Amino acid sequence: MRPSVIVHGGAWNIPDHMKHRSREGVNTAAKLAYEHLLNGGSALDAVEIAVRSMEDDPVFDAGKGSVLTADRKVEMDAIIVDGETLNFGAVAGISSFAHPVSIARGVLERSEHVFFIGEGAESLATEMGMERIDQKNLITEEAVDEWERFTSYTKGVQMNFSGHDTVGAVAIDINGKIAAATSTGGITGKKSGRVGDSPVIGSGAIADSTVVGVSTTGHGESILKVQLANIVYNQVKQGSTAQEACEFALSEMERKVGGHGGVIAIDFNGNIGKAFSTRRMVWAHFSAAGNNTGIDRY
Ligand code: GLY
Repeated sequence: MRPSVIVHGGAWNIPDHMKHRSREGVNTAAKLAYEHLLNGGSALDAVEIAVRSMEDDPVFDAGKGSVLTADRKVEMDAIIVDGETLNFGAVAGISSFAHPVSIARGVLERSEHVFFIGEGAESLATEMGMERIDQKNLITEEAVDEWERFTSYTKGVQMNFSGHDTVGAVAIDINGKIAAATSTGGITGKKSGRVGDSPVIGSGAIADSTVVGVSTTGHGESILKVQLANIVYNQVKQGSTAQEACEFALSEMERKVGGHGGVIAIDFNGNIGKAFSTRRMVWAHFSAAGNNTGIDRY
């Protein structure tokens, strides 16, 4: 199998002044992951490498750069899925670690459970030797500005707000193994304890090497209601191409619950899908056929 990786840095109304940095960020993430795949590395490592790179990049809503809750804190969620075994690791409500995706990887590899939240997840990360940090190190000026705009627009009342959103990666390695990962700071002004789609299997991600790997982005409540990643999975299983499946899933989400977002996918043949119903989604794809990045719908 020729390896390839596709990553996204969120589907939302990305402002013009962030376009360049966002494209650079996804390009760097995809390049790092692709180099790993070319050296014979696994799809699981590749998606973790890509997502860690975007968690480190303050332009994205994941890790450093995460958006803030209503009480001005960071609460991050992540998932990583192994398409060979269907095993996954997921975490929610992480506040004091730089790389939620690596805690999720730790859960996948070292726990009999698959999903941890809050202090339990953070204790596990400490036990696994990960460094606890002050969440101040994750908060950027942009996140504070966005929080201030949010609270002045909404006067503290939760409403739809087209803020930052989520990073994700899907890879297929030389052995045809597929993996997917998604990581997010969630949505600006979310109530403390709110968990969106990103760490939920079948919503924020799914992977099965015999079918497809998927990572999603967008309005978490809408994605959860329709289980967006699962729609892509079912469509590919029934014979759709990855691209058709991604487009169908988003149109179903809009039709059924009025939600918007984006999806990336790689199927068992190595074909990719990418689609978004927001104004922009930043993405990058690296394969033997070449490297592409994009951000605008048309
Ligand atoms: N899609 C990320 C979230 O809604 O939390």
